[in-house]
Amino acid sequence: NTIMIKLDKDEIRKEDLETAATVLKNGGLVAFPTETVYGLGANALDAQASSKIYKAKGRPSDNPLIVHIAKIEDMESLAKDIPDTAYRLAQVFWPGPLTIIMKKKDCVPYGTTGGLETVGIRLPANKIARDLILHSGVFIAAPSANVSGKPSPTKAEHVQKDLSGRVDLILDGGDATLGLESTIVDLSGDLPMILRPGCITKTMLENVIGPIEYDPVIFSEEPSGVIKPKAPGMKYRHYAPEGTLVIYSGSMDKVTEEINRQAKEKIEEGISVGIIATKETKDYYKYGIIKAIGTRKDEASIAAGLYRILREFDELHTEYIYSESFSDNELGQAIMNRLLKAAGYRIIKLEE
Ligand code: TXA
Ligand code: MG
Repeated sequence: NTIMIKLDKDEIRKEDLETAATVLKNGGLVAFPTETVYGLGANALDAQASSKIYKAKGRPSDNPLIVHIAKIEDMESLAKDIPDTAYRLAQVFWPGPLTIIMKKKDCVPYGTTGGLETVGIRLPANKIARDLILHSGVFIAAPSANVSGKPSPTKAEHVQKDLSGRVDLILDGGDATLGLESTIVDLSGDLPMILRPGCITKTMLENVIGPIEYDPVIFSEEPSGVIKPKAPGMKYRHYAPEGTLVIYSGSMDKVTEEINRQAKEKIEEGISVGIIATKETKDYYKYGIIKAIGTRKDEASIAAGLYRILREFDELHTEYIYSESFSDNELGQAIMNRLLKAAGYRIIKLEE
């Protein structure tokens, strides 16, 4: 059975950490908050423990886990041939939403890295996450704490909904403030490469270590098998709501007009409709359930609300969801990457 404990990050009780640490040390599963999304944690150096993560999530076994640490120097316990660029990025962005891929040391089992010779490492900013790592003395392998394919969890209730009965303990530390998974940068090859965009943008990374490439798969249609993503997880359909999600791009006038037209038609056919709008546009819609995801003046608010809104439409079993599109610069790249994947790349570009 799954226990849920509420924690206050400003006043973390020792005995709660002790409970969670004991589960981890005994090879069990603890879901915990991070600043990006909730993670589903197990002892990263215990192949048997990390295999339980795959089982609980229904995750394909070739999809590697990110290992969470609490001090920069911990990466030396897990990675070898650490490039200077890794230290520079760590100094600037850790603790925070950045995962660095490096060559793994022998102590990291293939069961944690999905059979790869590399390991993804992240030092999270969330205080509960860091205290848990420090207190248990365990490096924590943790993917997002959702059932594979579902939107990532930004609240403890999302974790409970997906994984109740499949994990030992859920630590409820309130809402994940950023709402999108960490940026992944691969430093194991000749050139640094971004495998997944996130809140730490390409520009921010380049300001510290110079030119970086994007894995070309990030912005292409669902990988056809011709190009293979470097982060195995990026090839799976992801973040998907139950309903059919369609994105509209173009001028706001055109977008709202077209979404209104589509929504009206569906509702007349007896099909339920949800609309992902923003604070600025929500009043232009006339049909279906209209939700403002955030404000266009602050893209972080849109990032923070995306998975929550997709899950809210799941709760309502909404059959069709129409979404506006967002800018594709800086943080917008991470938002559009997730939104496009959630939509199975159904985007309709309206003529100006
Ligand atoms: O923000 C986050 O990163 C959250 C929190 C819990 O830390 N975690 C997370 O994990 O999003 P997950 O498993 O949902 O996504 C991990 C991604 C997958 O796409 C996986 O393929 C990639 O990271 N990855 C992990 N290790 C890798 C490696 N050694 N090489 C390439 N890709 C790797
Ligand atoms: Mg995930």
